[in-house]
Amino acid sequence: MFIKYHSSSKEFHLSNGNISYLMTVLKNGHLGQLYFGKAIRDQEDYSHLLELRPRPMAPCAYKGDLAFSLEHIKQEYPSYGSGDMRDPAFTIEMNNGSRISDFVYQSHVIYQGKKKLEGLPATYVESDEEALTLEITLVDEVAKVEMLLSYTIFKEYDVIARNTKFICHHEDGVKLDRAMSLSLDLPDAAYEMLEFTGAWARERNMKKRKLTHGIQSVYSMRGCSSSNYNPFIILKRENADENQGEVLGFSLVYSGNFLAQVEVDTYEVSRVMLGIHPNNFSWVLNKNESFQTPEALLTYSRNGLNGMSQQLHHLFQKRLARGEYRDQPRPILVNNWEGTYFDFNEEKILNIARTAKKLGIEMFVLDDGWFGKRNDDHSSLGDWYPNLEKLPNGITGLANKITEMGLKFGLWFEPEMTNEDSDLYRAHPDWILSTPNRRVSHGRNQYILDFSRKEVVDSIGDMMEKILSEAPISYVKWDMNRCMSEVYSHDCLPMNQGKVMHQYILGVYALYERLIQKFPHILFESCASGGARFDAGMLYYAPQAWTSDDTDAIERLKIQYGTSYGYPISSMGSHVSAIPNHQTFRNVPLCTRANVAYFGTFGYELDLNKLSEVEQEQVIEQVKWMKEYRNVIQYGDFYRLVSPFEKDGNVTSWMVVSKDKSIALVGYYRTLQHVNLGYVKIPLVGLDPDSLYHVSIHDRNLYGDELMNVGFSVSDAMSGENKEKYNGENGDFQSRIYILKKVVN
Ligand code: DGJ
Repeated sequence: MFIKYHSSSKEFHLSNGNISYLMTVLKNGHLGQLYFGKAIRDQEDYSHLLELRPRPMAPCAYKGDLAFSLEHIKQEYPSYGSGDMRDPAFTIEMNNGSRISDFVYQSHVIYQGKKKLEGLPATYVESDEEALTLEITLVDEVAKVEMLLSYTIFKEYDVIARNTKFICHHEDGVKLDRAMSLSLDLPDAAYEMLEFTGAWARERNMKKRKLTHGIQSVYSMRGCSSSNYNPFIILKRENADENQGEVLGFSLVYSGNFLAQVEVDTYEVSRVMLGIHPNNFSWVLNKNESFQTPEALLTYSRNGLNGMSQQLHHLFQKRLARGEYRDQPRPILVNNWEGTYFDFNEEKILNIARTAKKLGIEMFVLDDGWFGKRNDDHSSLGDWYPNLEKLPNGITGLANKITEMGLKFGLWFEPEMTNEDSDLYRAHPDWILSTPNRRVSHGRNQYILDFSRKEVVDSIGDMMEKILSEAPISYVKWDMNRCMSEVYSHDCLPMNQGKVMHQYILGVYALYERLIQKFPHILFESCASGGARFDAGMLYYAPQAWTSDDTDAIERLKIQYGTSYGYPISSMGSHVSAIPNHQTFRNVPLCTRANVAYFGTFGYELDLNKLSEVEQEQVIEQVKWMKEYRNVIQYGDFYRLVSPFEKDGNVTSWMVVSKDKSIALVGYYRTLQHVNLGYVKIPLVGLDPDSLYHVSIHDRNLYGDELMNVGFSVSDAMSGENKEKYNGENGDFQSRIYILKKVVN
């Protein structure tokens, strides 16, 4: 691993042996982009990669030089207005109204390790040898603003982490109107863009489009990263598939408004940009104040989409997630939400917990409805003290009883919200985000607390801390159930209102940080009406997230498959729920419900006492199974095999392989049963070609090379004759998990 600066060519080269990232200081002192991709040798001079050519009509910076125009030079962190006509990485407005910038290279430092970001989530190192960082300082002498571009390259992960910091030295201050975390000019446009779109209950469905001239983007202006789009995009070559070919991934470590876009210009340059959405963002910087962007991650793989995903999975598991649970198999839980909704009391909860214990489950999670006077979703958010009518012994009494049974206890909060009918709102009506003299919209009957204000965050934090200190609580589910509107802070100058949405997210991060520092043994699971804040930013505080409010196993195939492109299996909250399913009214067999939920953190979300004895026996087996294999599932290498987004989507398949390749688990899911189908083989990946594996279900010993090169049979050759009666293992919504174990001689 190295970061080199070649003083004669003024070029920077970052490489870890697998990937290279090259930049140069241009003639005008700005930074030019030379290359990002598979590692190339280090050389003094790669300036020919800039391909400077005269282009008619282009504004030229120097007399007598028709080739140097920012209109067509590949740049590192471009601005608009001095020749470049494309979307810029940043915009600074000076006090005189000027919006032209000219940031010129001044100096750089290279050091081992990686610095923390200020109040923001970010990847980290545990020892300085794990990464190298390059910080380049550029200065605009007229605006008197310093810009620090930071690049970290990791030894173990093929990832570059970037962020930008602006420091104002001007007496009059300046205003930032746009400050992206990442801009990258790629030299051609022969890519497909993969994005992860959806809505509530159908998050992160993969969509693919060919890049074309102009801007293609996904974004959120909802105040959270959203279920509609995700702050993660992929560019892949057309011929790249899951296991081979060139793939680039771009992930933003941030949970608020974002923009992820690719602009293809008329010279076939693809400008990728990722950062806070500029709409409703502006940041006034007074003298000596600074602004740091969130971190953006770029990853590159020649091993297809699986190769790219695995880089992010491992980085997120090991050097983004933190805390005691980072490397631990996640507890198998039962959550009462779909089991009881708001209709519970202590006895009902204890009855579910007793059964949970009997079935081998490890944790009980009490969801919404335990606080204030909350019996439906019209009241009490913000009143974080127990509803004594439902829970006469309070949370402490209940939690003690549950922990005495030998179960862990977890609790739901929605810290960022309040209802009009709450003690909190009655005491502090100005604590919500709302614009003066305008109607304020509600969402699920609730309003958003102004987390850009420290006093608001502190006061919610105090209430939460009290509960968490008094009761034996091992897990917190942090929910957030509406998008923002009429954003305006009542404690902020008019000129600073453009800061509010970002400051809100900083407030969320600050409260998370306070709680994880104070309660390091608590496992946090983030949630936002399911997966509306499933992003890399959240994983820094909460190593797992509720993937979706859609608990139907068949719907979950797409949701979990789509989520796996950018996020590890250990981060995906996935539960077995009751049938008919509460979102789709579908009746999926219990084994398939578990076979899907295993590929996540695993748990149950139903009233266990409503299961028949036979079903309870099945649950006992499922829990045992998960305890045996969760380490492989949550920390092995995950591969997507057959996509529900391709062809007719009837079959989905994925697998995990343990790090030592001794165990592999293949999940095979078939939505509808067709009759008399053709033969089907699925080629596996990631096995040791020379090892013999025992394949369950087939009950055969097969070598890794056969399993990977020939594939293994999953033919569903049911002929539909009556002799093959429905036996619970055929018909619609079926699935199988094949267990492959290395045969030890
Ligand atoms: C939305 C979450 O996604 C659900 O799991 C549940 O916690 C409800 N909120 C409770 O209001």
